[in-house]
Amino acid sequence: MSRLLRILLVFLILAVPFVARCQPTGSPAGGIERRIDSLMAKMTLEEKIGQLTQYSPTVEQSGGKSALSPAQLALVREGKVGSYLNVTGATLTREIQRTAITESRLKIPIMFGLDVIHGFRTVFPIPLGEASTWEPDLIRKAARTAALEATAAGIHWTFGPMVDIARDPRWGRIAEGSGEDPYLGSLMAVACVQGFQGDDLALTTSMVACPKHFAAYGGAEGGRDYNVVDISERTLREIYLPPFESAVRAGAGTIMCSFNEIAGTPSTANRQLLTDILRGEWGFDGFVVSDWGSIGELQAHGVASSLAEAASLAITAGTDMDMESKAYPTHLADLVKSGTVAERTVDDAVRRVLRIKYRLGLFDDPYHGCSVEREQTEILSAAHRALARDVARRSIVLLKNASNTLPLRKDSRTIAVIGPLAESRKDPLGPWDAMGRSEDVVSVLDGIRKSAGPRTTVLYAKGCEIDSTATAGFSAAIDAASRADAVVLVVGESSSMSGEAASRSSLALPGNQEDFVKAVAATGKPVVVVLLNGRPLAIPWIAEHIPAILEAWFPGVETGNAVADVIFGEYNPSGKLPVTFPRTVGQVPIYYNHKNTGRPGDARERFTSRYIDLPLTPLFPFGYGLSYTTFACGKPVLTPSEITGSDSVIVSVELSNRGDRAGEEVVQVYVRDDVASVTRPVKELKAFQKVALKPGETKRVSFTIPARALAMESREMKRVVEPGSFTVFVGTNSDETQSTTFTVVGGAAVR
Ligand code: NOJ
Repeated sequence: MSRLLRILLVFLILAVPFVARCQPTGSPAGGIERRIDSLMAKMTLEEKIGQLTQYSPTVEQSGGKSALSPAQLALVREGKVGSYLNVTGATLTREIQRTAITESRLKIPIMFGLDVIHGFRTVFPIPLGEASTWEPDLIRKAARTAALEATAAGIHWTFGPMVDIARDPRWGRIAEGSGEDPYLGSLMAVACVQGFQGDDLALTTSMVACPKHFAAYGGAEGGRDYNVVDISERTLREIYLPPFESAVRAGAGTIMCSFNEIAGTPSTANRQLLTDILRGEWGFDGFVVSDWGSIGELQAHGVASSLAEAASLAITAGTDMDMESKAYPTHLADLVKSGTVAERTVDDAVRRVLRIKYRLGLFDDPYHGCSVEREQTEILSAAHRALARDVARRSIVLLKNASNTLPLRKDSRTIAVIGPLAESRKDPLGPWDAMGRSEDVVSVLDGIRKSAGPRTTVLYAKGCEIDSTATAGFSAAIDAASRADAVVLVVGESSSMSGEAASRSSLALPGNQEDFVKAVAATGKPVVVVLLNGRPLAIPWIAEHIPAILEAWFPGVETGNAVADVIFGEYNPSGKLPVTFPRTVGQVPIYYNHKNTGRPGDARERFTSRYIDLPLTPLFPFGYGLSYTTFACGKPVLTPSEITGSDSVIVSVELSNRGDRAGEEVVQVYVRDDVASVTRPVKELKAFQKVALKPGETKRVSFTIPARALAMESREMKRVVEPGSFTVFVGTNSDETQSTTFTVVGGAAVR
């Protein structure tokens, strides 16, 4: 054997097992496709359509047991249910599954789905809070924990992560996503997909992810939920699609299409999105589920004259499963029989659904390892609560800390904890709290009581309601504040003020809370405002007059412990805003990665792009957040200063902790394409790192930015890196940066 042949043989022996290991479970070439072929050969058209049907059934309670109605169970026996949503619990899901796999003709297991968005029973901070950690690895662990708990209770599929970019805080669903930035949003999307799905979907602790809502749902006009979206293909591709593409490339098994239209085409019927881009360009081989009733809503959109026509449009576009429109089970068979919809189209959709069921291992273990024992040992375990506390305290953003008001001393004599959210145990769970229960929640008041020193008296008064004009409670609260050394004032929104169908036209604190804050501040006592809310609020008076402000979002079950950790300095805050805070609702939309315009805003020049009655800047910029210590970030150094379209540039910078406390700082790297064939944002986040430094310590932090990360859509909508000069901005928020430039020579096309 020649030497060359021997080398080739050794290479093959070594490489084949490696390549095989890297194949995704049930890759199209593998055994799964053959199993699907033989199963589909036995299926009637009605059974196929059953796989494309998802119901949210009424669960009946009797004698302490939960059960589906006899009519629903009959559908299961007839093979007419592919998936249920909103059915949980090992006992109930096992019983339904047992019916499916023993009493239906083909014994195809059912997939159980639920909105497990930021935890199952151990509720973590809302996703906007999770994104404020700027720690994707930590959020991967949170998602993994959610998967552990949900799968113990029979859930195979979560309708998350929500990866919609949101630039309008009026939109209530901004709470459910990672904010305004496509890069941060993409990293969080990948972290959640990996956490939910684990290393292999067939693991009994894995559930399929469902990035949603595809696409541009966050672009709703006026921030009004479900409203129309009218954006350019460039904005779609550069701003709204990147987190979806990243999630798909990370292996997400399903996608949910969105309620909205984009420029005249509702997503549920948008073939360009669901087929050409998702499957054609990104190679997605999982399935698409509609949003709740969104197939039926094609009639209200005015693109279908009947539910049957809606079904035809949706399946043809690439919506594989019907969530609660009942359009497929009612009309799809007739549409196929009449030749309106090709049976092949139905078959393709069925194959995609079955593929995910096979990848989940449901045909081998239909119960996917759920059990009452697992529910009892894994759900809300001490370890899960400890992680929830850590994520929660890392999600808190210190917005202001004049005169080192924070941290409070544990031996302060008297602390007044007041405000309409101080004692709440329901609101801190936030919207989409899955199986979260208020009795599991540590309120801010309880957290501070537990943490304060034994000699500290903690006074409590509610003061006012979240959304009311009543002032009867003011005086008791003012009295408590007057008797205290420091005041912790917990204000914000109720959990029902964000999430789905919770858009607000105002970004002010609801009700008379701001008047209440003013009345408490008038006592002259040091006041710490703790905000619990699901969106950026416009709070200019508070920002100017209150010495210390913590944005805590809705932190979940460990709210009080996490807030107390930060308030007493057990944890030095490191959260950063994933979204811009406007001064007033009139500034919306305001986001850091805006375009320059031909007349960039200039406060001294009238005829520039600005408001005559407002400063140019937001209240707090994207990426902003303080610490109890002080960091200094040096000037960036680039090597080399000239690269080709296939090289990388290394950005390095010195970060120093100039204070007397250990702390963590997020070093952020933004890039601007200085001159291009189309206009570019003034800066775009390209890299970041959270760095821990001891007092007095200095570290050099390096980032590798590959040229392909600088790609943009050309005029012809091709991804390219254009040659020319780029400015790199490095700093600790999007506004306070130092910059330098480098050059790309040659450019490149990017896939
Ligand atoms: C409607 C919501 O838009 C979606 O996010 C959710 O997953 C479904 N309902 C199911 O609850």
